[in-house]
Amino acid sequence: MIQPISGRQSGLCVRRCGTACPIASRRVPDITVLDHQAVLAAVSAAAAIDATRQAFLCHHRGEWTMPPKVYVQSPPFGDFRAMPALGGGFALLKWVTSFPGNVAHGLPTVNGVVCLSDAYTGMPRALLDAPAVTALRTGAVAAVASVALARSDARSVGIVGCGLNGAWVARCMAAAGYGPGVCFDPRDKVAGKLATELGWQTGDRAAALACDIVCCITPGKDVVVDAGDLRPGQHLNMLGADGSGKAEASLEAVQACELFCDEWEQASHGGELAGAVGAGLVTRDRVASLGAVLDGDLDGRSGPEAVTMFDSTGLAIQDLAIAIMAFEAGRDGRVKAGELRL
Ligand SMILES: NC(=O)c1ccc[n+]([C@@H]2O[C@H](COP(=O)([O-])OP(=O)(O)OC[C@H]3O[C@@H](n4cnc5c(N)ncnc54)[C@H](O)[C@@H]3O)[C@@H](O)[C@H]2O)c1
Repeated sequence: MIQPISGRQSGLCVRRCGTACPIASRRVPDITVLDHQAVLAAVSAAAAIDATRQAFLCHHRGEWTMPPKVYVQSPPFGDFRAMPALGGGFALLKWVTSFPGNVAHGLPTVNGVVCLSDAYTGMPRALLDAPAVTALRTGAVAAVASVALARSDARSVGIVGCGLNGAWVARCMAAAGYGPGVCFDPRDKVAGKLATELGWQTGDRAAALACDIVCCITPGKDVVVDAGDLRPGQHLNMLGADGSGKAEASLEAVQACELFCDEWEQASHGGELAGAVGAGLVTRDRVASLGAVLDGDLDGRSGPEAVTMFDSTGLAIQDLAIAIMAFEAGRDGRVKAGELRL
């Protein structure tokens, strides 16, 4: 049974680096436990956007590191993904799943846990709900990429796919000042609920794709954007294709855009760009990383009429940024967290 804590700091000290750590304490620190609601309560959409932007800059500058994601297949049910990262005085491992058949058993497709450890002692400091951390960082990166790559006068937002992560993309876009928007999902109810929450509208695929900024966050089984759908000056965030065989845009649509990604290795092997890269239609020199654009090392859109496409595959450094904030809120008693001693 996990007991709630109330701001007690479990023998923590603060080192000259400014990061709380247990190094001066002889006592083994308790592990802060944050469930789904606690993570969402700990990190606002606006804070998630700032932290995500900073994580991309730190990674681009080599201050935060991230070994490649490891896939562990569990055929025929699904796969596990291990996503490690180091930065900000912490190390993170996200152990997360994709089990598409779970829905038939009333279980979520995506589940898992984030473990946050102290980078100076190796001691585990927090366990967090992985879907909540993922939703916040996925929504946040859509906003970060839009600010960097969309036209400065872009306002309207089309959301294609209004599930867990689509909803957080919409919330983060609204928190970044975009909207109103159009929510489209074959499940009318989820689209309607999200539109009502944000004061946006529901619409069909064409209405969503007519917006200044389009965010696609579907399971990636079907193409939802073709070359004929693209409008001059538009920006697209492609977020649903985060594994091999998934795609939300046709090869022609990908080829017609100025291309950006979160990280080339992931995007070229398991992202929206993978199909075009595999077919020899897109090469690395055509794709700029978001971190390089944010840091001013590479250009964003070439002009007001260009169509820009950002391929988000989801990075462990994004999870790290959110997990640190959520951990600190739990440790300091700003949200209700549990505590666990192993
Ligand atoms: N890039 C990233 O960082 C990142 C992060 C999390 C999830 N994902 C991926 O995003 C996708 C969605 O994840 P989720 O957790 O929100 O899933 P979800 O099941 O909660 O939501 C998916 C939604 O898409 C809708 N949908 C299905 N086909 C559609 C279509 N053709 N047009 C419009 N909507 C459609 C479904 O009705 C559902 O509401 C998955 O592929 C997941 O792997 C990517």
